[in-house]
Amino acid sequence: MKRASGQTVVILEEALDLLADQVSGVSLISDIALAAKVISREVNRAGLSEILGEIGRENSHGEQVQKLDVFADEVIQRALYRSGLIACMASEENETFWSVPDDFSRGEYVVAYDPLDGSSNIDVNVSIGTIFSIHSMISSSESGELKDFLQAGKKQIAAGYVLYGSSTMLVYTAGKGVHGFTLDPSVGEFVLSHQDMSFPDPPRHVYSINEANYNTWKTGQQLLIDHLKDGGGFSSRYIGSFVADFHRTLLQGGLFMYPEGKDAPNGKLRLLYECSPIAMLAEQAGGRSSTGYGDVLEIVPDSLHQRVPLYVGNSELVDLAEDFLRDRD
Ligand code: AHG
Ligand code: MN
Ligand code: MN
Repeated sequence: MKRASGQTVVILEEALDLLADQVSGVSLISDIALAAKVISREVNRAGLSEILGEIGRENSHGEQVQKLDVFADEVIQRALYRSGLIACMASEENETFWSVPDDFSRGEYVVAYDPLDGSSNIDVNVSIGTIFSIHSMISSSESGELKDFLQAGKKQIAAGYVLYGSSTMLVYTAGKGVHGFTLDPSVGEFVLSHQDMSFPDPPRHVYSINEANYNTWKTGQQLLIDHLKDGGGFSSRYIGSFVADFHRTLLQGGLFMYPEGKDAPNGKLRLLYECSPIAMLAEQAGGRSSTGYGDVLEIVPDSLHQRVPLYVGNSELVDLAEDFLRDRD
């Protein structure tokens, strides 16, 4: 596509077309991008419409569901049904997975997603996101089975997130690098703005964690934070929206942590639609992710909403975290 200035810009659909013969199913990202544009419009006018606040019920995790959680979930469902490429879906907002309704044609992929990440930040106008993970089906069933979702993160064919921030960005990987597109509202297209994203080396020394949980952590985790604070030249940043905290870590370098604790023996973040997709992006961007004891991408999930502790960022900082957890617990 050319701008009026004659400058050539690459839009998301063009980039995905170039990739389509190498990674089948990648056009699903274009369907997610359509949903992201609709969600972005609603997010950007949230204070003006009746979309803020809670709907008055809890989800399966015991968390208050926000109106925007439900809106985003429904928009993504509709966009993906029409793709004709997926058999079934799993969402943070639904206890079980479900098959694409019969009135839509089904395909050979499954999508797990967090429709709106960082819900606690919606009403205070802080960046929020959407996270998605795409797997090829392994079952022979036409409408999909649970085992199609319970695959290790290393089997994902693509993963990514949308960040509804000062601009709306879609960042994805299909196993051939990490690429970022920024929504140009004047044309309604996601335009390539960050090609081949990778963790900076050396990283800015930033660690990101909710330190209010310090007294619930194991000794190794406490000593790790003490070490990072002790003259290591680190600063601390914590937004409380995983997508925003990860995006900053990817751009500037550093280490994001959501560790286990007395009140959260497996941490808080869900493996299928938060940790695994971000772990694929991190690995493709030259970093890595760990539960503190092993690579996130190797874990075979035992349930849709399984939680795991998460350390993600520059490889040497994730390695440092593992050293503290292994040697001192
Ligand atoms: P979600 O809104 O999808 O439930 O995710 C919220 C998560 C994640 O975005 C963030 O990193 C984490 O919750 C923050 O948790 P704390 O408030 O416990 O720090
Ligand atoms: Mn989330
Ligand atoms: Mn969510």
